[in-house]
Amino acid sequence: MNYHIETYGCQMNLHETEKIAGILHREGYTSATSMEEADIIVFNTCCIRENAENHAFGNLGALKKLKRANKNLIVAVGGCMVQEEGKAQFLKEKFPFIDILFGTHNLARLGELIRRRKQEKKTLIELFPARSGVEDGVEPVRASYPNAWVNITYGCNNFCSYCIVPYVRGREISREKADILSEVETLCAAGYKEITLLGQNVNSYCGSDGTRFFELLDEVASAAQGVRIRFMTSHPKDFSAELVAVMKAHSNICKLLHLPAQSGSNRILSLMNRRYTREKYLENIALLRREIPDCAVTTDLIVAFPTETEEEFCETLSLVKEADFSSAFTFVYSPRTGTKAAQMEGQIPEEVAKDRIMRLIDCVNKNTRKMSAQYVGKTVRVLCEDYDAKRALYLGRDEYGRMGYFTSEKNRVGEFVDLKVDRANGISLFGSITGD
Ligand code: 5AD
Ligand code: SF4
Repeated sequence: MNYHIETYGCQMNLHETEKIAGILHREGYTSATSMEEADIIVFNTCCIRENAENHAFGNLGALKKLKRANKNLIVAVGGCMVQEEGKAQFLKEKFPFIDILFGTHNLARLGELIRRRKQEKKTLIELFPARSGVEDGVEPVRASYPNAWVNITYGCNNFCSYCIVPYVRGREISREKADILSEVETLCAAGYKEITLLGQNVNSYCGSDGTRFFELLDEVASAAQGVRIRFMTSHPKDFSAELVAVMKAHSNICKLLHLPAQSGSNRILSLMNRRYTREKYLENIALLRREIPDCAVTTDLIVAFPTETEEEFCETLSLVKEADFSSAFTFVYSPRTGTKAAQMEGQIPEEVAKDRIMRLIDCVNKNTRKMSAQYVGKTVRVLCEDYDAKRALYLGRDEYGRMGYFTSEKNRVGEFVDLKVDRANGISLFGSITGD
């Protein structure tokens, strides 16, 4: 029996897909080479923006044909979209061929639901309003070697006014430090070369013994000598000098901070309920760069939040230059039912939003290209993570998150490789191996 999993959304979902794969293995399934030859298809959905949902709807619709061709095919849909108010019922009606709908808090129960579905011939819906604990007891089948993701928190308490995450992922829960450290040690012993600590807001981590995030990071970095440590996402309101000190103290912590700014306008930041100002954000970055001058900063930015004026949008553009982001994820505001911002007056017309996002992308790209160009002639250390068969090149990231491409006679996946950068193209660097 074979499985296929379709994943939408963020790293959290990618990691949860690894856990779903773990459950399916336990149930006797192995990975299918294509959707057509699968006996079970699982959709791990996202609902952060409308287009993430539309994408999943389109692909779900296409399953009808497969379901007709194979009466025994099981279709299970989980993830954030299912946890949205009323969405499971909506999905059941729109796609009556779905066998199982399971919420974000029910992932660990997928195996049991599959077994039940084989007995009962009706759509099973299982949604818990909250997470019962922090451990799923699920052994993930990791698919991202040489990187491994490790959850440190689940959920979010911030209620940024545009964001649906607190509604679908629930209140923030921190995992026990001992469990995190034990997972990290196991991963190091298994040969993983990079560990990414995951949480919606890692900086508000709080262990049951009062351990703060910077203390956890300190211990993780010490326990994982020779292994790169990354963490995401950090909220600017919880940024601290202690975090900077820990980043500075450990050479294996990547000198990269992903710090979503969302907007450069104080009025919009306040409407977004972000609880920091542009000035405070820039102060944080100034402190970071004073202590760690080569530290890269990346961010998330939203344009066309309700009532955003042209001047306020221009403040986001100027923030990109002032903060000198090495890259940014840029989004058009998408109203999400149930959030505060969706009820606000002054939603921005689509053509204005489109114009703003194009200008923002252009501004971010200029900065990224400028930084990439500075790499030419220099040597960077990348961790080789894959082989791009189309380009016949290996690829890996440096500690600042920049992708370097190179040729090699032998398989380099999982190795640290020093590259002399010959040329830069957009965010990509092309180089040749040195010191071999
Ligand atoms: N519309 C657009 N972007 C959003 N994000 C979160 N919610 C929305 C929304 N409703 C963006 C934020 C966040 C990132 C993960 O997604 O920038 O940091
Ligand atoms: Fe959403 Fe804000 Fe929580 Fe991030 S911090 S997940 S943007 S509510």
